[in-house]
Amino acid sequence: MALRNGPDEFGLISRLIHWGMALLLISLLALGLRIAAMEPSLSTLWLYGLHKTLGLTALALLLLRVIWHLISPPPGPQATGWMRLFIKAWHWTLYALMIATPIAGWAGSSASGIDTLYAETFVIPPLVEPNETSEFVWFILHEIFAKTLLGMVIVHMLAALKREMDGDGTLTRMLRGRA
Ligand code: HEM
Ligand code: HEM
Repeated sequence: MALRNGPDEFGLISRLIHWGMALLLISLLALGLRIAAMEPSLSTLWLYGLHKTLGLTALALLLLRVIWHLISPPPGPQATGWMRLFIKAWHWTLYALMIATPIAGWAGSSASGIDTLYAETFVIPPLVEPNETSEFVWFILHEIFAKTLLGMVIVHMLAALKREMDGDGTLTRMLRGRA
């Protein structure tokens, strides 16, 4: 079982990162929507802490994913012409949102003036100065990025299922490495 990616193959490392991050991001989206709908209180504060810790973990994993893909580039989509370019652009946009969403959340949390903690222990350096307007703007951006990510992930998932049903082995390749 290859660890590295090949021209037509997703290696084990890329597949583990893809599915691990998919699980993490779907949990983060659900948890984020839950906390945004709640009134903040002492008894629910830990949910904010959990969301921040998982969100910063997702950002760290994303950096590892990018570094790994620079070392071992993943295979391109199994499509030709403009469809291949379109799918590639979709994947690039998913990457951009996977970076922008946690950074906006981190900046919004910094602007609130409250320490951002990792695992309730380590203080993460603030990205911006405390300021109410900037807190508001960063959290609006965080919401827009996160909801766009959610919409694009749903389409991504449905497209992968459709292409698998059409018989090009797209999903099999992400599950087992080869189509
Ligand atoms: C990829 C990672 C992340 C995803 C997918 C994500 C997703 C979300 C979503 C969907 C919401 C609800 C937005 C709304 O309806 O207003 C939310 C809220 C929130 N997120 Fe994140 N988040 C991520 C990372 C982070 C990080 C790293 C932090 C801080 C260090 C953070 C802090 C917050 C806070 C404090 C809220 C509540 C905002 C409010 O009450 O209006 N998030 N997140
Ligand atoms: C938050 C959730 C997800 C994100 C952010 C995401 C992101 C990505 C990205 C960026 C790629 C390009 C290859 C890479 O860089 O790893 C990819 C490939 C792929 N994803 Fe996802 N994914 C998610 C969830 C899912 C789910 C739930 C499925 C299940 C149907 C899925 C199926 C696939 C398949 C089959 C490929 C290979 C596509 C190809 O060969 O053209 N993904 N995903």
